[in-house]
Amino acid sequence: MLNRTLLWVAENRRVENLVSSAMLTRNVVSRFVAGEDLEDAVEAIKSLNAGGIGGILDLLGEGVKNSQEANSAAGDYLAAIRRIQETGIDTTVSIKLTQLGLGFDKGAAIDHVRRLAAEARAVGTLVEIDMEQSSFVSDTLDVYRLLQVDFPELRLAMQSYLRRSPVDLQMMAAASPRIRLVKGAYAESPSVAFQKRSEIDGQYAWLTDWLFERGRDPAIATHDLALIEHAKRAAARTGAGNSGWEIQMLYGVRRELQTELARRGHRVRTYVPYGSAWYPYLMRRLAERPANLRFFLRALTRG
Ligand code: FDA
Repeated sequence: MLNRTLLWVAENRRVENLVSSAMLTRNVVSRFVAGEDLEDAVEAIKSLNAGGIGGILDLLGEGVKNSQEANSAAGDYLAAIRRIQETGIDTTVSIKLTQLGLGFDKGAAIDHVRRLAAEARAVGTLVEIDMEQSSFVSDTLDVYRLLQVDFPELRLAMQSYLRRSPVDLQMMAAASPRIRLVKGAYAESPSVAFQKRSEIDGQYAWLTDWLFERGRDPAIATHDLALIEHAKRAAARTGAGNSGWEIQMLYGVRRELQTELARRGHRVRTYVPYGSAWYPYLMRRLAERPANLRFFLRALTRG
């Protein structure tokens, strides 16, 4: 219930204006967001790299309303890719297709992704595509399938809470897709998504096995220890070892575990969000854990 209310709040513009204009202490935002500028994210990734952890750069923002905003987001991503080349940091770039106009101009969004994927390749990194609300899943899969032919290094996020995910994966089996597996972070109806933890986790484990057997270089993106252990067993069984897959986590979540896994020889990447449009991202992180909400409310009332 708490989750669903917070996730609704995450998509509500009026509450966004209220919270964003409140004297929210920097502590709450900075726990989950590297900062407002690209340079803040670059610094965060440098310190992750120093501990043997890779980055996943994420420019905050989603659901843009016109092509001007989409062009501007694409320009910001291009600048980020150039900065990766200049600094030599080890990071990928994760994009949201609704930030590039998927909601109103699919063709233009495809062109943006193609350009970003080409630029990323030229500087020796790659683009990852986030998965958003279920209403965008079919279009996102289309974009991935289309571009994956020219850019097989593209990685696509898929959500274990969606009932359709096993079928979607099966449809891509011939291409041996490169997937980031997540549980899913949006409020979805029971007809579309599992609601019970046991069902979401059960499907996560099943999809993990599928990815190790039929996918390519799976990324297991979770902080759930039981599911990480499940992935380790799948890696051992399929001969992926430590190098044939990676573990991905979020900035500010289970930092010690990230360090420990890297120290033990696992490939670890941390998703590092930056930018001023932090509101929906922060609300999704709060919804994942009641303790985060208490932390947030305390900070809010302190001003
Ligand atoms: P779960 O929520 O069960 O958490 C397991 C444990 O991890 C908790 O008990 C707690 O200890 C800790 N934890 C998890 N979240 C926490 C938090 N916010 N604060 C503090 N502790 C926390 N989703 C999506 O729909 N589309 C996408 O493209 C992506 N992309 C993405 C990339 C990466 C790298 C990650 C790690 C996650 C995503 N997600 C996502 C988010 C994902 O769907 C999910 O909401 C979160 O990862 C939380 O789920 P867990 O798998 O960690 O399990």
